[in-house]
Parts: sequence; C-alpha cells; structure tokens
Amino acid sequence: MDKLILGVDAGNYKGKVAGVYGVDSFKTNICNWFERDVDETFGPDDMEFEINGRKGYAGTIAMYEDEFGDGATYGDTKAHEDTKIRILLAIYRYTKKYCPDAKRIYLVTGQPINRHKDEEKTKIINMLIGYYDFSVNGQRVRFAIEDVKVAPEGSAAFWSTPATDMKIIDVGSGTVNLASIIDKKHIHKSSGTMNTGIETLRNKNDYEALARAIYQQATKLKWKNTDVVFTCGGVAEIITPYLKKHFYDAIPMQPKLKREFDTIQVPPTYANAVGFYNLARGVFK
Ligand SMILES: Nc1ncnc2c1ncn2[C@@H]1O[C@H](COP(=O)(O)OP(=O)(O)OP(=O)(O)O)[C@@H](O)[C@H]1O
Ligand SMILES: [Mg+2]
Repeated sequence: MDKLILGVDAGNYKGKVAGVYGVDSFKTNICNWFERDVDETFGPDDMEFEINGRKGYAGTIAMYEDEFGDGATYGDTKAHEDTKIRILLAIYRYTKKYCPDAKRIYLVTGQPINRHKDEEKTKIINMLIGYYDFSVNGQRVRFAIEDVKVAPEGSAAFWSTPATDMKIIDVGSGTVNLASIIDKKHIHKSSGTMNTGIETLRNKNDYEALARAIYQQATKLKWKNTDVVFTCGGVAEIITPYLKKHFYDAIPMQPKLKREFDTIQVPPTYANAVGFYNLARGVFK
C-alpha cells in the first residue's frame, strides 16, 4: 500500500503523529545548519536535513543550539515554513519507522482555535500539498502530500474518545486551547485559545497559576465548575490535580487509536493527533 492516512499535530514543543500502525513523537526544534566539530549525540530524534535549499538540524540537537536557531514561535499561527518542515520530518519519521513503501500521504493537521479561519487554513493547505524530494541524515526521501485538511487544535481531540458532549483543555507549550463540544459540534462561542502555555510561564513549574488563569478564561466562556473537563497535551496528567481545585471533574483524556488489527490506548499528549487521524480516516477513505 503506498497510500497513507495520518493525523499530524505539529506542536511547538513536540510533533505527534497517529496512523494505522501506531503513534510517533519527536522534539520539533529546528535550527540552521552549522559545522559540527565534535559529533556529539543528543537524542534518537536528531535529524540533519536539507529541504528546498534550507539546511538545518531538527530534534533534540536543535534544542541545544538556540543561539543559532530562530527560536520556536510559541503560540502563534502554524501557517509558516517551520510547520512545513516539521510536518515533512514527521512523515519521514513515521514512514521510516512503520511503512517505508508509503509514498502518497493524506493528512489532517491543526491550527489553534482562535486562528482557525478559512484564510489561514487555505494557507496551510497550499503550503503542504505537493511532491517532495529532500534529504535527512544523508538519506534521500521522496513522497507526495496528496491532500490536507486543517482541524482546530483541542477541539479535534474530541474525535479521539467516544462521546457526544465534551469540554476539553489542551495545555500546550505556547497555547492553551479550550474547546466546547455539544452534540459532536464545536461551539464557537464557548471555545477559544489563550496565548500562554508551559514555555511562556515566568516560572515553568507554576501549574497553580496556569490552572487559575485557565479557569478564569473558562469562566469568561461560561464554563461551569461542575462541567466535566477533559485535559490533553504534554502536561495533562500533571496539571489535572491543579485544575481539580476549580473544576470538580477534571480528567486526563484517554485517546483510543484503532490500528490495523487492534485498538490501543495512548497517552493524552496524543489526543489531538489521534483526533486528527480519525477525522482523516473519515474524509480520505
Ligand atoms: N513529562 C513532562 N513533564 C513536564 N512537562 C512536560 C512533560 N511533557 C511535556 N511537558 C511540557 O508540556 C508542554 C506541552 O507539551 P505539548 O507537546 O502538549 O506541546 P505542543 O503541542 O508541542 O505545543 P503547542 O500546542 O503550543 O504548539 C511543553 O511545553 C513541555 O515543556
Ligand atoms: Mg499542542
């Protein structure tokens, strides 16, 4: 089978991918290329790439090279060149790991709720669709992105768990998405994005303050403290006890991923990726 359907969550901290073979994740830091005098190993997700004439490093190695890099653009729109590189690398990693023969890719990816506008979506779609021929770690990589759809982050995580109504708090590195779903529909008025996240906190471990800020925002969106709220993102399990001080019923999501022969439960950090994948299975089958 050379056709592959994926859900790709190109986060500013980590890329998360879900597909029929399972999940994959990697650090999404990117920096410009530089001569390395010592070949130090940083992590198994390190990648040296050359894409469309741009040479650089991605993964953990890039995290240590901030001074050369342009830095992550936390919280902002995902309609930019770094997102494209992250998504190409995500596809490269996934196919290398599970299905080297996959050459025609169909994917759903995300955009923060407040940036989820037609114009921005079209930008992402036009930026991604196309034929690619590039290199990673000296290896030639070739595939085509045949079609793309863009779903709202946080809200799309709904499709990772069977339910009809849901309140979701997606705590990311630069954004927190609050999504309200009723009758399987995204409710615009009671959903939104906060332009703050774990990496933009003055004190990275101040979950108490972040939980309080999230609750304040939720109150503005008319959420009640008796609402059942589901948490996802990289810190879902860590921040849930703090959110419980405001919402009586806060629980980390338990995304279910349907693979070729079975269904597995994956950590809440994959909730968006699994949601995107399930949406992708629906539109691209
Ligand atoms: N095990 C962990 N312990 C502590 N912090 C963690 C852990 N895993 C992830 N984080 C933190 O959680 C934050 C959110 O991670 P996540 O992968 O959800 O971000 P992201 O989706 O890449 O960001 P965004 O959605 O804003 O683009 C990160 O900033 C990271 O520092
Ligand atoms: Mg995220």
